[in-house]
Amino acid sequence: MNPLPTTPESLLPLVLAAMDRAPDSRLRELMASLVTHLHRFVIESRVSEAEFERAVAFLVGIGQATGPTKNEVILASDLLGVSTLVALLNNPGSSGLDSDAALLGPFWRANAPVCAPGTNIAREGTQGELLAVSGTVRGEGGQPVAGAEVDVWQASPVGLYENQDPNQPDMNLRGRFKTDAEGRYALRTVRPAGYPVPTDGPCGELLRAQVRHPYRPAHLHFMVSAPGHKVLISQVFPEGSENLDSDPVFGVTAALVGRIEPARGATPAQLVRDFQLSPGETVFPHPPIP
Ligand SMILES: [Fe+2]
Repeated sequence: MNPLPTTPESLLPLVLAAMDRAPDSRLRELMASLVTHLHRFVIESRVSEAEFERAVAFLVGIGQATGPTKNEVILASDLLGVSTLVALLNNPGSSGLDSDAALLGPFWRANAPVCAPGTNIAREGTQGELLAVSGTVRGEGGQPVAGAEVDVWQASPVGLYENQDPNQPDMNLRGRFKTDAEGRYALRTVRPAGYPVPTDGPCGELLRAQVRHPYRPAHLHFMVSAPGHKVLISQVFPEGSENLDSDPVFGVTAALVGRIEPARGATPAQLVRDFQLSPGETVFPHPPIP
């Protein structure tokens, strides 16, 4: 017969032993580490029964608040800095450059419209300042990558993604562009605005309890992919944007700040952004929303 627990500390070895037969070695390793940290956390923080109930209610709540237009579970991970942590850990950057990786965020949709170079993704009368975005996609050795896909999505100048806003057409401010023989892509859009992360669920309650504001600085999202390369998920934050140093999801890293050249005469405002891909498997994330 196995020993029976007698103290809080004597529980952990029993839990670890019970999970030790999992045939999947990585599952074994991850669960052992997670349970060890969890037990230490509960003991060190002296978690009360009421606090445990509160934590369970939070987890249930983020699941229940997740639906076709919102992924509250990803948002919770974002607000704890874990999403950015995973992105940076797994995409260290190549050729001595800082990583261009960023968290995916809760609003990416798969199958955005495929667009010809230069297409304006601000569709059907979206108001805002015209912004021309262009750049080059390169491989690890700096060589241009032809035929790479640059998937772009952003919030409107009002600060809402199209699937949060009944006034925007389906797939507004989303598009996929292919790079040309020199690895170049180009598109047009409107200057993005900052926006609050959704605060109507348990995550909003957490932010209020911590006296944290919900406003993300303005940004564009990018997902760059090409066969034989890792999928690069990135964001660009225009220099000087409000809340650049207090992003509630900790998405702004030094490498992700870009400069928008102001409009001059007939030339619209301009953002130039190059991307460098690393060799690897082309694996796309699961869309957080349909
Ligand atoms: Fe976003």
